[in-house]
Amino acid sequence: MENSTEVKIFPKPSKVAKALAKELLAMTQSSQQPQFHLALSGGSTPQLLFEVLAEKYADLLPWQRLHFWWGDERCVPPGSEESNFKAANDTLFTAVPIPEANIHRIRGEEDPETEAERYSREIVHELNLRGQWPVFDLIILGMGNDGHTASIFPSQPELLQSEKICAVATHPVSGQQRITLTGKVINQASRIFFLVTGEKKAGRISEIMNNDPAAQNLPANFVSPEHGKLIWFLDEPAASLIS
Ligand code: 6PG
Repeated sequence: MENSTEVKIFPKPSKVAKALAKELLAMTQSSQQPQFHLALSGGSTPQLLFEVLAEKYADLLPWQRLHFWWGDERCVPPGSEESNFKAANDTLFTAVPIPEANIHRIRGEEDPETEAERYSREIVHELNLRGQWPVFDLIILGMGNDGHTASIFPSQPELLQSEKICAVATHPVSGQQRITLTGKVINQASRIFFLVTGEKKAGRISEIMNNDPAAQNLPANFVSPEHGKLIWFLDEPAASLIS
């Protein structure tokens, strides 16, 4: 599979979410594998995507074959308003016929280091491997205003090169502990979709897209699938500073 990047820009977030959902359906339809493993991002941006999938794709996606993972999770209980699992579960999983066993939650309530190791083992057990690295069919990523992605923050660039599959990260402002996929696992994925909307992200997006030297400090800039395709799904405000 060639290594390539595509940028898709839409007028508003709802159009971005619909386009990504359509691309996801096409991927699952062309995949011959018995299982399709995708990792979700957290934060607020994916909520529109979850709503589109819940409302329009309940009867279209092959839920029995879809396995949901997370690119990162906050170290909080699953019922916390901070939980990325809760955000997806309340909006999406409660509305579609997905088997419980296909939802691979990061257990934010557990000891972070112990859970990072447990989740890594679960990923290795369930996914195909390329050498030592598990291969996700699709990883959906968001990007913070500081250019972080998953929970790889500019303050912890070593997580981009870690030999671990999952690591414990620390939010640079709140100090909240997170469990995150590391950069090498992310870049082994067959497809990576960045879902980024809003003018607050325009500065970082322009630095990345315009190859600005400042992008060297942005973890999102290091997302580049080695054997796959990267598609940026942006709305016009987020893309407004791309030259
Ligand atoms: C998280 C996410 C994180 C998120 C960005 C963007 O756990 O917060 O995985 O990487 O994608 O912070 O967040 P918003 O979508 O809320 O802007």
